[in-house]
Amino acid sequence: MSKKFAKNILCIGAGYVGGPTMAMIAAKCPQYKVTVVDINREKIKAWETDKLPIYEPGLLDVVKIARGRNLFFSTEIEAGIRESDIIFVSVNTPTKTFGEGAGKSADLQYWEKTARDILKTAESDKIIVEKSTLPVRTASAMERILNSNDKGITFDVVSNPEFLAEGTAVIDLEYPDRVLIGSRETERGRRARQEIVDIFANWVPSDKIITSNIWSSELSKLVSNAFLAQRVSSINSISALCEKTEADVQEVARAVGFDTRIGGKFLQASVGFGGSCFKKDILNLVYISESFGLNEVAEYWENVVRINEYQEKRFVKKIIQTLFNTIANKRIALFGFAFKANTGDTRESPAIYITKQLLEEHAHVVITDPKALDNARIDLTGAEGTLEYEDDPYKAAKDAHAVAVLTEWDLYRTLDYNRIFESMEKPAFIFDGRNILNHKKLYDIGFNVYPIGKPELTRI
Ligand code: UDX
Ligand code: UDX
Repeated sequence: MSKKFAKNILCIGAGYVGGPTMAMIAAKCPQYKVTVVDINREKIKAWETDKLPIYEPGLLDVVKIARGRNLFFSTEIEAGIRESDIIFVSVNTPTKTFGEGAGKSADLQYWEKTARDILKTAESDKIIVEKSTLPVRTASAMERILNSNDKGITFDVVSNPEFLAEGTAVIDLEYPDRVLIGSRETERGRRARQEIVDIFANWVPSDKIITSNIWSSELSKLVSNAFLAQRVSSINSISALCEKTEADVQEVARAVGFDTRIGGKFLQASVGFGGSCFKKDILNLVYISESFGLNEVAEYWENVVRINEYQEKRFVKKIIQTLFNTIANKRIALFGFAFKANTGDTRESPAIYITKQLLEEHAHVVITDPKALDNARIDLTGAEGTLEYEDDPYKAAKDAHAVAVLTEWDLYRTLDYNRIFESMEKPAFIFDGRNILNHKKLYDIGFNVYPIGKPELTRI
């Protein structure tokens, strides 16, 4: 094979992390050949079209720079492994649903299967990069599996956790706060690490590329997400207190966040955090802590998840109580189903729990969302009750008793709420689970307004 490219990079797993990350590497490094493989044929096909399998602002432009030039999508996993010098593994690692550690620890079966595929197929030394979030010390298990071969091949396992957030993945990848690369502190380990540093150095300033030992790198990913989630749970816990005291959580967050030691980000009270990472990573941390007998540490972090569940429950309870303690047969329009704006992803979205609870109370639920309706349908398969999906928010709100904003899509800020009010049942209620609407204006239109952590504006 003629070596047209300086390096062959393979990524196993073409999901929210693998797809965008490899597209950025390929766009920034035309000298490398980047191949992304996945067991899911449909997904691979979609990556080859202009209708990408995930919605991410700006992503198609990046993909188009490199696709067909040095970025390729394929289902030929074995051929990909054979040709590669460096393999990024970004298969999913969901929370285990069975057996020991069920509900908390990570399910590593895809990761291990991938390691075994690599072992079986590889014919030369390779660097294996952990992109998937894994429990601390997984790298050593992987090294043991991989290096148990009798082919004389050596594998170096490096950890390079992904910090991109959905909805801003392209910006996060192009201008990351930091890139973290962990390896063993041996000469081989450091050499492997340097190879990965060299990739990112093509566009990331060197002071933003940090290296560490492999365990620190693995743990840092869990801790970063746990700290972010903790901020959301902290402000959400305060929102409950604000609702009782007439304080305004946005004013409190602003005042607190002005302290440069605290900072203003991630202090937006909400209906709760979702996403594929926060809950999973915290529970992972809880599980590891428990397994070392660090029960106080485990409990401390578990409470971050508990407050999140409490926040979702509180929201539903408020809707029921406000609608005169019964929502049976009442039409309720949910504005937004994605776990946050600018993504079609609904994994762990608070909307899933909220919809199910409302259905349980026999409400007639209408869901609208600009990008997430397909995923919503999948999430709610089998849910019993009266459930509709509607692209048009005006139609969703028509004849509704209440509107609840669950995702902070910009679109919802600029709707014609006069028109919505006119079309609704009266009294009309609006529950702003993201505090994105102009509450005073809504009140003036005639709505009864229930924000998060702020005084209610009611007419009844
Ligand atoms: C990633 C990480 O892998 C996860 O550990 C981290 O916490 C969040 O980001 P993500 O990219 O969001 O996950 O997952 P997903 O979009 O589900 O993509 C994973 C892909 O791997 C899927 O397309 C799946 O088909 C593929 N896969 C899974 C394989 O190709 N082989 C397998 O054996 C298993
Ligand atoms: C997160 C991390 O930010 C990212 O670094 C990591 O790689 C993956 O996990 P993501 O899950 O895409 O990214 O979303 P993020 O922006 O962190 O939001 C998570 C949840 O918290 C969302 O449901 C969001 O709406 C909520 N949130 C966030 C709040 O409720 N309030 C805030 O102030 C911030």
